[in-house]
Amino acid sequence: MWSSRLVFVLAAAGSAVGLGNIWKFPYITGENGGGAFVVVYLACIALVGVPIMMAEVMLGRAGRMSPINTMRKLASASGGSGFWPVIGWMGVLAGFLILSYYAVIAGWAVYYVGRLASGTFDGADGAASQAAFDAFLADPWAILLWQTVFMAVTVFIIARGVARGLETAVRWLMPLLLVLLLVLVGYGAAVGDFARGAGFLFSFDVSSLSVGGLLTAMGHAFFTLSLGMGAIMAYGAYLPGRTSIAGTVTTIAVLDTVVALAAGLAIFPIVFATAGLEPGEGPGLMFVTLPIAFGNLPLGAVVGAVFFLLVSFAAVTSAISLTEPALAFLVEQYNAKRTRVAISLGAGCWLLGIGTVLSFNVWADVHVVGGLTFFDFVDYVSYKVLLPVGGLLIALFAGWVLAKPVVAEELGFDGWQERLWQAAIRFIAPAGVLVVFGYTIYQSV
Ligand code: PFF
Repeated sequence: MWSSRLVFVLAAAGSAVGLGNIWKFPYITGENGGGAFVVVYLACIALVGVPIMMAEVMLGRAGRMSPINTMRKLASASGGSGFWPVIGWMGVLAGFLILSYYAVIAGWAVYYVGRLASGTFDGADGAASQAAFDAFLADPWAILLWQTVFMAVTVFIIARGVARGLETAVRWLMPLLLVLLLVLVGYGAAVGDFARGAGFLFSFDVSSLSVGGLLTAMGHAFFTLSLGMGAIMAYGAYLPGRTSIAGTVTTIAVLDTVVALAAGLAIFPIVFATAGLEPGEGPGLMFVTLPIAFGNLPLGAVVGAVFFLLVSFAAVTSAISLTEPALAFLVEQYNAKRTRVAISLGAGCWLLGIGTVLSFNVWADVHVVGGLTFFDFVDYVSYKVLLPVGGLLIALFAGWVLAKPVVAEELGFDGWQERLWQAAIRFIAPAGVLVVFGYTIYQSV
């Protein structure tokens, strides 16, 4: 059990804030044309993400077991069918798929710690930064090395049991990360094209938003809040009984959003002020832009190295939560040893991750389906299919199946708050997911 509400907030925030905020949000925003995409994303966070996050915490705390067994227990107690544990199983699969590539990208961040510290980017311009990144990506062995380092550290931490280390890491390192992001925003304001960068993020131009962008925005709302796969449910299982779920969840969602927007405000002013860079650069966006800022700031080598170290930590605290649904289940169900499970899961993810390593070089032109590389495919299945479907099922279960007294007991709402949450979880969230899915399918056939 978490010792207090604060520890839960820290752990859940540690899960939520990660590569999704700093690496993924800016690059998918760039690929999807900016403003309108950001608005849809924010709407998805507020209307779909927050209510579903409350549902996940509530289910976790009501069940107090791993997500698979929690769903089993709550479904049978509420007279629901044996279908619902599928939420837990899908979550285990999604966590596995996501971690396989998450570790690869996190490895890039670890690698950049050393690159910055050694002064590679001192005085660098766009072309130099791009060339350094391209050279790294072209070398599968280098990527593999850092993926392995990241995975080994993650497995080590998971095997040792986490609460203490996690708490310290998030309590001290996350605020520092935010401070450094704000320094970068300051750099963008002083040296970059801040007006265009901010305009790109916040100007609402509907014509720039494609159907694909709609699905991406919704998938990302789930991804960035760690929803739809039981990670937050697993953490909710350790939450003390009397804590207000609504307040806690809102805090985490706001924090997560602030970090993402700060990352965007740090990156886009640099993009628009640097010759040869464009917003649609893709997964390399943050790795090409931010070193330019550090390369031109006083003490940039040190500060830059610290920044990438903090990003790596943020990635570790997210990676840990990706394995928690599977880990908790195996330990609970089969009395398996934590260490053994952690190593096996880590090894499996590492192996699958090699496909992602190769997607950026040797297999760059190999397409699994459509135009998707192996990395794109794993990413697509996990965050555009498994997470939204998982979230939809969680909303339906929490809204329609779970016994009313359990909801009342856990959320402690009455009056308008209860009606608002009911409306969100029963109608708005499911409709949101279904409309986006339906529209995507309709457009693609
Ligand atoms: N929320 C994490 C991020 O934004 O980087 C990624 C993530 C962690 C997704 C845990 C899902 C999850 F269960």
